[in-house]
Formats: sequence, C-alpha cells, structure tokens
Amino acid sequence: MIQIDTEKALIHVDEGDGQKTIELGSPEGFELLSKIWLRSGWETKHVYSFTWLDRPMIQLPEDMIRLQEVIHNQKPDVIIETGIAHGGGMVFYAGLCKILDKGRVIGVDIEIRPHNRKAIEEHPLFPYMTLIEGSSVAPEIVGEVKSHIKEGEKVMVILDSNHTRQHVLDELRAYGPLTSVGSYIVATDGIMKDLVGAPRASEDWAENNPCQAAHDFVGENEGFAIEEPEWVFNEGTCRERITYWPDAYVKRLR
Ligand SMILES: C[S@@+](CC[C@H](N)C(=O)[O-])C[C@H]1O[C@@H](n2cnc3c(N)ncnc32)[C@H](O)[C@@H]1O
Repeated sequence: MIQIDTEKALIHVDEGDGQKTIELGSPEGFELLSKIWLRSGWETKHVYSFTWLDRPMIQLPEDMIRLQEVIHNQKPDVIIETGIAHGGGMVFYAGLCKILDKGRVIGVDIEIRPHNRKAIEEHPLFPYMTLIEGSSVAPEIVGEVKSHIKEGEKVMVILDSNHTRQHVLDELRAYGPLTSVGSYIVATDGIMKDLVGAPRASEDWAENNPCQAAHDFVGENEGFAIEEPEWVFNEGTCRERITYWPDAYVKRLR
C-alpha cells in the first residue's frame, strides 16, 4: 500500500513487513510513482494512443526516445523489427535512417493487414523499408531477412512480435547471430513481469515474458550480455529508464 502526502512531498510505503518513507522528489520516489503510472497506463492502454508521422506506434514514447539515442550512436546499416502492426515503429526507424543518411529497416510480421500494408507502402518513408510477411521464427523467414543483408553490414534488431518467453528466446537465437558485434538485439515489453494481477494480464507472466527470455539467452551465450546503453545526456538525478522494456538491451560482445 502506498500513500502520497503531496503537502509534505513524501511517499509512505507499507510493504506488509515494514514501512518506509520516500521523498516525492527523490529518484527512488520518481521511479516508484513511474511504476504505478506504467501499471495504470497498461490498464488504460496509454501506449495505444500515439502515432509517428501518421502511423500508429504502439510504444511508450520514452522507450522510443531512448532507442533513438542508441540508433544515433550505433548508426546501423540495417534495423530489423519483428512485429510491424500498423507500421509506426518502422516509420520511426526509417525516419532516423533518412535523417542520419544511413540505414534501412526490414520488418517482419505474421500478418500484415491489407490496410496497414497499403498505408505503409504509400508512406513517404517506404523507400527505406522492406516488409516480410510470416512468422519471425520460421527458418524460411529468417533466411529471407538474411538475404536482404549484405556482408559486413552493421545490424541492430528490435523484437516486438509475440512476447512469450519461448518465442522471444527463439527470436534471440535466430536473430542474435545476425546482430553485429557491439550492436544490440532489443527484447521489448519485459514489463509483462510486473503486470501480473492487472486486467488482460496472465498469471504466468511473472516468468513467461521477454525479460526472462533475454536472461535465458545471455545465460546460454557468453557472447551476449544485458547491457544498458549509457544515457547521452542527463542533468537530472534519475538513473533508471521509465520503461516497458526492462533488461531489454542485449548487446553482442563478440
Ligand atoms: C505490439 S505489435 C507491434 C507494434 C509495432 N512494433 C509498433 O512499434 O507499433 C505486435 C505485432 O506482432 C505480430 N506478431 C505476432 N506473432 C508474430 C510472429 N510469430 N511473427 C511475427 N510477427 C508476429 C502481430 O501480428 C502484431 O502486429
């Protein structure tokens, strides 16, 4: 149970086995409130309310701003996204490629609905995109993705399709080898682990989630580690991302 005293700017936390008080304006206070805000945002489907350059983008804006920092820093030749949906994520990455004058985006979705395909293909940034329809873990689809990547190109991968532990682990195994050394494969939406008990969440999400898959993968591959990209700019006191993507950044070390 949490009580917020806005007059004294304090948060009282009762964890059952003890109480603590946190300053509202401390990094810890901000992170605690943000976790509650994220949970409330899940219930209200907050992330289903944004577009990027006219395409619905089902993402928490802060995650995309942070990812933009990583893409700017990495400047990949190829960004692979599994899970296209309405195409907002692809448009976001394609726009960065255009601004950076480097890179293109390969998107994979098990079902690209005709109205989404039409809108994406008519988008001004479509020249930076390749759409592939099929399951992201089907060997022929992974092979097709591979066929669009040239020898020596720098590849970054964003996994945002089916978020079960097994599917994300299979994606990490399939796309990890395509990820360039020093680059990242990003296993999004690990927030599922913190949503157990919320509407539309399953009991097994405590374990059955992308965050767990990322840990499984680095446990079986010494060449990869979960590593937070450094923030480029921070004149504030917070040190943690407010995110749907905890422990998402899996870096290829060698
Ligand atoms: C959360 S949405 C993706 C949102 C998108 N990345 C964005 O930024 O707006 C998940 C998508 O994954 C797709 N999907 C589900 N299972 C898949 C699979 N096995 N392979 C590829 N895509 C899959 C769904 O069809 C859906 O469009």
